[in-house]
Amino acid sequence: MSTNTVDKVRKVTTARLSEMKRRGEKIAMLTAYDFSMAKLIDEAGMDVILVGDSASNVMAGNVTTLPMTVDQMIYHAKSVVKGTNRALVVCDMPFGSYQGDSKEAVKNAIRIMKESHAEAVKLEGGSEIRESIERILSAGIPVMGHLGLTPQSINKFGTYAVRAKEEAEAAKLIEDARMLDSIGCFALVLEKVPAALAQKVAESVSIPVIGIGAGGGVDGQVLVMHDMLGLNKGFSPKFLRRYADLGTAINEAVSHYIEDVKTSDFPNASEQY
Ligand code: KIV
Repeated sequence: MSTNTVDKVRKVTTARLSEMKRRGEKIAMLTAYDFSMAKLIDEAGMDVILVGDSASNVMAGNVTTLPMTVDQMIYHAKSVVKGTNRALVVCDMPFGSYQGDSKEAVKNAIRIMKESHAEAVKLEGGSEIRESIERILSAGIPVMGHLGLTPQSINKFGTYAVRAKEEAEAAKLIEDARMLDSIGCFALVLEKVPAALAQKVAESVSIPVIGIGAGGGVDGQVLVMHDMLGLNKGFSPKFLRRYADLGTAINEAVSHYIEDVKTSDFPNASEQY
C-alpha cells in the first residue's frame, strides 16, 4: 500500500489491528520518545507508536535497556501521547516492573495507563511472565507480547545474536506465542529470529505478529526511530533499512550555524529587531 492510500485519519485501535491481520494489511510500527517526533510520525500515518525502553539506549545513552524506570517510561509516554492523534500508543514496561511479582506488575501497568494515557503496554517474555500478563489483562489493559531477542534479558543471553535457531528454542517460542494469543494479548513483537520461524509463528496465531529482524512473512514491522532515520550510525545490523541520514544533516546544519555565529554572519539585518 503506498503512503497516499494510508487512511491517516481513522484512529487505530487494537480491534483495528486484528482487522488488518485478517485483511492481510501490513502494520507499520515505529518507536518515539517525545512530543515533536511523535507528532511527525503520527501525521505521516503510522499505525502504532511504541514508546520503547530503547529510550534507555537512544535517549539516555545507556548500554542496555535495564536501567529504565516506570517513572521514566511514563515521562516519555506522556509526551508521545500528547503528539499523537491517530496511532495506537503502546508503552514498554521496563525491566523489574513486571518480572517476579504479578501484583506489582498490574500496579505498574495501571500507573503507566493512568499517568501517561498510553493505550497498551508491552512486556518481554513468555511462560515465565504469564501470571503478570494475565493480571494486567484482567485489569482491562491491552498487552502486546515480545518474544525472540528480548533485550531486557541480555545478561542471560550474553549476546544480541539471532535467537531460536535451534529446534528446542524455536519450539518454545511457538508454544509461548500460542499461549500469548490464547490468554488474550492483542499483538506480538518478534525480534531477531529466522524469517521462516517468524512466518510460521504468524501463521499459527490469530493476533498480529510484528517483526524486527524477523523477515517479511509476518503481519507488520517495527524499527527504532533513531536507527531508521540515521541518528544512530554506530548501529547497523543486517535487518536495518535506513530511510534518511539525519545524523549527517544535523551535523552539517549545526556546523553551518557555528560558522555563521563565529563569522558574525548570523544574525543579519533582517534577523533582528
Ligand atoms: O524498546 C524497543 O524499542 C523495542 C523494539 C525494538 C521492538 O522493544
